[in-house]
Amino acid sequence: MINEKIQDAFNEQLNAELYSSYLYLSMAAYFQSVNLEGLASWMRCQAQEEILHAMKFYNFINERAGRVLLAAIEGPPIKWESPLAAFEDAYRHEEKVTGLINNLVDLAIQEKDHAANAFLQWFVNEQVEEESSVDAVVHQLKLAGDQGSGLFMIDRELATRVFVLPPA
Ligand code: FEO
Repeated sequence: MINEKIQDAFNEQLNAELYSSYLYLSMAAYFQSVNLEGLASWMRCQAQEEILHAMKFYNFINERAGRVLLAAIEGPPIKWESPLAAFEDAYRHEEKVTGLINNLVDLAIQEKDHAANAFLQWFVNEQVEEESSVDAVVHQLKLAGDQGSGLFMIDRELATRVFVLPPA
């Protein structure tokens, strides 16, 4: 069974992951409004991944006989100055999430909850990939320019990302 401190912190992270999904879905909607279908599709995949992250916390809390307590999800921004500005925001957001995960690891160690610590290691590794994949797009947008033919090429490339549901 998880103690109340871990339960509360994991419920907060569940909310943060749902907010991440909401943020990326809002970015997808922004990209769609400016006819960047590839960027929109990439962000929709990202939003779906965040739901999976949230569900990992949901399932873990339940498996450890804790209580999932859902709270209101903050409204995300709804528009950005440019595609680059949106992806830079996404990168800053992932850095913030990495910090939240690291804080949870610290708490699990402090509370001597080894199962929680082991569970969180998946997220420690995932955050390396999360930061890296968003950073790669930031660099592409900076190099190719975030308008004209460079943006067209990036949009076409990002359209190839597909969301694959991992095995249960
Ligand atoms: Fe759930 Fe993008 O971190």
